[in-house]
Amino acid sequence: MNKSITILLATLGLILSQPAIAQQSTSRVQTLRGADAAATDQAPPERPYAGKSPGSQKLVARTFSTQPPLIPHSIEGFEELTLQSNPCLSCHGPENYKNVKAPKVADSHFKDRDGKVLLEVSASRYQCTGCHVPQANAKPLVANTFRGDAAKRK
Ligand code: HEC
Ligand code: HEC
Repeated sequence: MNKSITILLATLGLILSQPAIAQQSTSRVQTLRGADAAATDQAPPERPYAGKSPGSQKLVARTFSTQPPLIPHSIEGFEELTLQSNPCLSCHGPENYKNVKAPKVADSHFKDRDGKVLLEVSASRYQCTGCHVPQANAKPLVANTFRGDAAKRK
């Protein structure tokens, strides 16, 4: 009986002392998002993509040798994919790239997962923006010290 009262009092004491501890601590736990851990996530501000229409943009230098090249131009109006039409391929595909002076899709895009060469761009490459991304003028969310190997390549 005595023992359980002691435990009860000890537990009570612990519960009561919690707010005091929280108030005493000067630095709060910082989250990477910058918001309080319990707060609802805020959507980041929308940033317009940089780059004008294709044909007028300089290519973006690659940072590492296996990097999917970044999209230097605006992709407004080219985002809608259907089974029948892929706006990116209408310029970058083998039929048209010369007429519009666009870089041709890489040869690797005509291989399936087993390395078999296909007549058309592989279905696994159909959604271009899964790998190639347009650019926005935004600060990196977290600092990093990454250094690519682009110097080796070009
Ligand atoms: C109207 C034709 C056109 C369309 C549509 C188009 N592009 Fe381009 N793209 C170009 C041209 C031309 C360039 C060369 C840069 C320039 O002149 O703007 C280019 C450059 C690129 C590059 C840079 C390649 C490199 O080696 O650095 C990538 C990646 C790219 N486009 C991806 C895409 C994707 C993904 C889409 C669809 C969302 C797309 N493009 C839609 C014409 C087009
Ligand atoms: C799974 C990722 C992935 C997808 C999806 C993808 N690409 Fe690529 N792409 C790459 C990588 C990685 C490279 C660079 C290495 C290489 O040449 O394979 C590249 C290279 C390119 C190049 C530059 C070719 C050159 O010779 O410099 C163009 C243009 C391109 N892709 C266009 C496209 C288009 C258009 C689509 C959609 C139909 C697409 N890619 C889908 C990963 C991807």
